Amino acid sequence: MQIIVKENYDRMSKLAAEMIADLVRKKPRCVLGLATGSTPLGTYRELIRMHHEEELDFSQVATFNLDEYIGLPPTHEQSYMYFMCRNFFDHINIHPANVHVPSGITEEVPSYCEWYEKEIKEVGGIDLQLLGIGANGHIGFNEPGSSLGSRTRLKMLDEKTVKDNARFFSRLEDVPHFAITMGIATITETRQLLMQANGENKAGAIARSVEGPITAMCPASIVQMHPQVTIIVDRAAAKKLTRRYPSEPPPLTPGK
Ligand code: PGA
Repeated sequence: MQIIVKENYDRMSKLAAEMIADLVRKKPRCVLGLATGSTPLGTYRELIRMHHEEELDFSQVATFNLDEYIGLPPTHEQSYMYFMCRNFFDHINIHPANVHVPSGITEEVPSYCEWYEKEIKEVGGIDLQLLGIGANGHIGFNEPGSSLGSRTRLKMLDEKTVKDNARFFSRLEDVPHFAITMGIATITETRQLLMQANGENKAGAIARSVEGPITAMCPASIVQMHPQVTIIVDRAAAKKLTRRYPSEPPPLTPGK
């Protein structure tokens, strides 16, 4: 596990974007797992900048998003499809057919979820999954208590998650209580995990995930089982970590 503590949100976002851009350059047909929320916004902004200024090419990239609220159509301003288009897809040269965000309005949830899993397998699996973390330790909408072996399915949101997400809705009553989310096993099958967290309200969740026991009560702690994990946090989110962590990825040649 590579934990990297950056000065602030911008540096955290820049490093995450550089890692994603590296992959896109090395493997133009790569498959990215993407996340919503406020954490990855800076990363998407930086990738958009690289697309405009450095010719970063997404024309062959495929993407799969972690989750979507049940009941919100893609045209709803708080749907995750809408979020992804407004904050990322509309500003890069990705092919719409290569974009996958779970449908929040499917009438056949179990078979839809199976189909989503199959689509991921058919493109050869996800190369890099970008992750945020909930203050309660969730990844995607895998709330505390989610099976560590879970696959894409319907989940009820924690009360804490509903409250945390209420800031995006005009009224608390409007926040959906159910979502389709990739499962924890779906997420850990990806070749590389890239988790980000910023701000003091994530410090407890980061400490439990990185230095605590692996437990379904903190789904993000599953990252400890993955052989290729990078966790980039800002100083505030690193506050409760007890061990020493670098501020840069380790150099490829020791001594440099
Ligand atoms: P946030 O959400 O980026 O809006 O803090 C992260 C998450 O809940 O996974």
